[in-house]
Amino acid sequence: MHSYEKLLIDNKAWATEKKELDPEYFTNLSNLQTPEFLWIGCSDSRVPANQITGTQPGEIFVHRNIANLVVDTDTNLFAVLDYAVTHLQVKHVIVCGHYGCGGVKAAMGNADYKDVLNMWLRNIKDVYAHNQKELDAIGEEETRAERLVDLIVKQQVINLAKTSVIQRAWKNRQAPALHGWVYGLKDGLINPVFELKPNTPIDHIYTYENL
Ligand code: CO
Repeated sequence: MHSYEKLLIDNKAWATEKKELDPEYFTNLSNLQTPEFLWIGCSDSRVPANQITGTQPGEIFVHRNIANLVVDTDTNLFAVLDYAVTHLQVKHVIVCGHYGCGGVKAAMGNADYKDVLNMWLRNIKDVYAHNQKELDAIGEEETRAERLVDLIVKQQVINLAKTSVIQRAWKNRQAPALHGWVYGLKDGLINPVFELKPNTPIDHIYTYENL
């Protein structure tokens, strides 16, 4: 048996079990999607949004990329953000990073990962550069990497607040709240590190008028 065939077999078992517990389970889910949360997380296979938060299908709208970045030229992320915030009207947007992130470790070094990955990891290097004094003062490499993960998450939350998608929603419906969380691979626990409540003032240059 090929490894991928096990996924299909396990899928059948899962669907059967769900239906046995609640015969209307899939009918109900297929009729309506009203998640309260948008999750922007790392693609890392060890950080699955639903499993680590104990949530079910239908509860979290998800976007994942390497190192959970909010990059202002990322059409994919912005389409997800716009749909979740403007149409699904989520109440919370969560950026969830994680300690032990391979993307962050890669960006902290000087290896050449070839053009496309270098381009993506550059966003992490920028966060490092903006906080160089604080980070360079941390002698232990793992502690420094963990602090960088916190700072990256904080910066991505600020990046969200700079968007007209978020600012328009803040003006129209005083939501969503923006949360920066970090997940620990070693203990499975999520630590909230930063939060912006709706209508928190941000730098004037990033503030849109007449939304
Ligand atoms: Co990661």
